[in-house]
Amino acid sequence: MKNLKCYLLFLPAFFFLQSATTSVQEPAAAKLKYPKKVNAIIQEKCYGCHSPEGKGDKAKQKLMWDELLQLNAAEQSEKLQNIVKVLEEGKMPPARFLEKMPEKKLTEAETAKLKKWAEKAIKKNSK
Ligand code: HEC
Repeated sequence: MKNLKCYLLFLPAFFFLQSATTSVQEPAAAKLKYPKKVNAIIQEKCYGCHSPEGKGDKAKQKLMWDELLQLNAAEQSEKLQNIVKVLEEGKMPPARFLEKMPEKKLTEAETAKLKKWAEKAIKKNSK
């Protein structure tokens, strides 16, 4: 009987805490996907640096493909804009890296494919 009283006492506190924690939830992650062909390009040409496997912190700070999927629409679009930008400027993978690994250079078709995918995703996020 003593236990029951204890529960009743804490019940309001429980509901208060529950509503407090649910109200600060982040907006849901935007629905971004990596279609098979896009994913293949990312894996082969970008993932080595922009993933937990990457050695340098700089690349990881700028872009993590796994985390990109978890971001809300606004944050995700910002990253996608950066991706479009580096593709247009031919900045990735970095030139210094390509000197050693020329086979990692994006082909024109791959650049176009990634860019189209990113632009479409940005458009979808802005709806
Ligand atoms: C050899 C490692 C390496 C590979 C491979 C690589 N990147 Fe990067 N990336 C970096 C580094 C290092 C930076 C940070 C450059 C800086 O801040 O000056 C970066 C930065 C970026 C940025 C942020 C640019 C900005 O200014 O905000 C984007 C977007 C990006 N990379 C996309 C890509 C894409 C797309 C690919 C594959 C086509 C790719 N990267 C492949 C190392 C890499």
